Amino acid sequence: MSRRPGNPSRRFGDGGGGLFSTSKSRSSPILSVGLLVVGGLFIVAYLYKGGSGGFGSGLNSVSRVEGDYLCSGEVQQAIPILQKAYGDSMHKVLHVGPDTCYVVSKLLKQEETEAWGIEPYDIEDADNNCKTLIRRGSVRVADIKFPLPYRPKSFSVVIVSDALDYLSPKYLNKTLPDLVRVSSDGIVIFSGFPTTQKAKTADVSKFGRAAKMRSSSWWTKFFLQINLEENESASKKFEQASTAGSYVPKCQIFHLKPLH
Ligand SMILES: *[C@@H]1O[C@H](CO)[C@@H](O)[C@H](O)[C@H]1NC(C)=O
Ligand SMILES: *[C@@H]1O[C@H](CO)[C@@H](O)[C@H](O)[C@H]1NC(C)=O
Repeated sequence: MSRRPGNPSRRFGDGGGGLFSTSKSRSSPILSVGLLVVGGLFIVAYLYKGGSGGFGSGLNSVSRVEGDYLCSGEVQQAIPILQKAYGDSMHKVLHVGPDTCYVVSKLLKQEETEAWGIEPYDIEDADNNCKTLIRRGSVRVADIKFPLPYRPKSFSVVIVSDALDYLSPKYLNKTLPDLVRVSSDGIVIFSGFPTTQKAKTADVSKFGRAAKMRSSSWWTKFFLQINLEENESASKKFEQASTAGSYVPKCQIFHLKPLH
């Protein structure tokens, strides 16, 4: 079974365009009157919806963490803590990992935060919100084994969750420095703990390979090997904010410095 990395040529929201094709045919007066009546009904329906607050007004009350991936869910919960640790640096964020649509949506709700996302795997069941983000260019599907299509320091902070656990050291060697390259203020890595988190069977069938959870000492050694430095001051601020907010992360979290 093979992994199915994101296929950038796949597009959501194609099709349509057939809606007004009847206007090309010769229309009878009766048809025109009919269209006018239907149009009028649409306007009435629209005004009615507008007056009652419109559809979807209940969506804002949803505050639960969405998605299937533990660490991507963890990022959603950690946003207030990240804001305390990174302050103004959280103004232009790139999130990389599965379920990025949920993370990006949550980041976009914060004041003065712009956010983009990279979804490393094909999305088979994208909801409407996700399709909209993809259409707007806020989220793109891309295989992170290849260089990211961004200039150096395009984002203030890069956050990556779950995705690195699926890469072997051969690819990690290239992907991680590339993620660091596109950040100006640092990168935050959310990765599974080796003992407590077993890959779900669904993961294996989707990615063809189970996530490999590495220990904290493995990661620390790996960062040194590829010349990436941990940002002690960011780690400290993050820990302090976690304690203050009674937040206990369910994933390992590493803070790396940007390139000089
Ligand atoms: C990754 O890079 C390091 C340092 O350049 C090197 O020592 C190591 O062999 C590389 N690992 C793989 C699997 O390519
Ligand atoms: C470490 O992280 C802090 C945010 O907590 C940031 O302001 C600082 O610039 C970072 N240090 C380096 C050397 O990048």
